[in-house]
This record gives sequence, C-alpha cells and structure tokens, in this order.
Amino acid sequence: MSLPLTDTQAEELLDRYNETDSLRKHGRAVRGMMRHFAVLYNEDPEYWGQVGLLHDIDYEKWPDEHCHKTPELLREAGYDDAFIHAVISHGWPVCSDQEPTLTMEKVLFACDELTGLVTAAVLMRPDHSVLTIEVKSVKKKFKSKSFAAGVDRDIINQGAEMLGVDLDYLIEGTITGMRDVADEIGLVGEPAPAEGEPAPAPGAGESA
Ligand SMILES: [Fe+2]
Repeated sequence: MSLPLTDTQAEELLDRYNETDSLRKHGRAVRGMMRHFAVLYNEDPEYWGQVGLLHDIDYEKWPDEHCHKTPELLREAGYDDAFIHAVISHGWPVCSDQEPTLTMEKVLFACDELTGLVTAAVLMRPDHSVLTIEVKSVKKKFKSKSFAAGVDRDIINQGAEMLGVDLDYLIEGTITGMRDVADEIGLVGEPAPAEGEPAPAPGAGESA
C-alpha cells in the first residue's frame, strides 16, 4: 500500500478544497483516530491516517455530491482505486454504494460519527479538553438522543457490530486517537477555574 503524497501534501490537498476551520479540524481529528486504531490492529498508521484525513474532501464544495466527487479529486492527486474505495465506503449506504469491507473501512465507518460526538461532548465541558474527557461521559451523551442530534447513533452501532467490538472500545480508541492530535484540532482546552479564582496559567498543573 503506497501513498502518492506525504502527510503534509495530503493536508494541503484537504485544505485546498476545505476552507472551513471545523472541516479542516474534523479531517485531522479523524486522522488521529484512524492512526490510533491502525496501531491497535497492527496496520499502517500513515495509510489509515490519510484515508481519515481526506474522507470528507468533497464535502464543503459539493455537499450534494458527497462521496461522488471524491474519486475524481483523489485520482487527480495520484491515489489509487483501493484508497478511493476506503474513503468513499464511509458514506455507505447513504451517499455511496461501496460497502466497507476492510477493517480500516469499518473503523472509519464507525468512528467518523463518533469523532463528531466526542468533539461536541468536549466543547460542552468547562475545560474544553479532550485530554480529560472519559469514556463514560461520552457514552452518556451517546445515549442522550437530543445531544448532538446530527450524530447518527445507528451508524456507530452498526460499525461496532461489523467490527465485532463493543461501543466502549470504539469510544476509548476515538478519544485516545484524538488526544494524540489535541493541539492540532484545538481541543487541548484549559483547566476550568475554581469559582471566584482566576484560571491557572497553562501548564501550571493542579494546585494542592
Ligand atoms: Fe466525516
């Protein structure tokens, strides 16, 4: 499995077609998640990472053709059919007829939405940090259907079933992968100040 672009060139490609900060960060969050699962499954983190980074490449400019414009953009950049299949199968069955078959594809299918849920859950926290969020609080948000209602829970459950793993495993892996790129996706956050006290300086650690 070879890649035509370096990670930096792949970032430039994503950013060329996506000007929205949230979409750029989403791509990078999904890359972090995919790299982490690649390590868990003893696969290639760089390859899985680029599949994650570029999975929504056509979304900003062609939202009505999501996953349909992607093959053209990726082929033009030198990516092969296997890579393109991996990317577009995340939209199955809604905007792609390509079903996820490889483990890499099933992970992307399951955890793309989960990455969005973790991001929304982190932003609700006083410290805005992915470094401190726990599996149980994401699971609680998962069960609360009104929270981040755009996140399709059925797809996440279906993905877990495809992979033969439970929801906790996917949530934990997604959080860990996003922690690895917390800085890049703007989710390092800052310690929440105690009532009536100014916020401690970043990196000051916990006070006694
Ligand atoms: Fe996505």
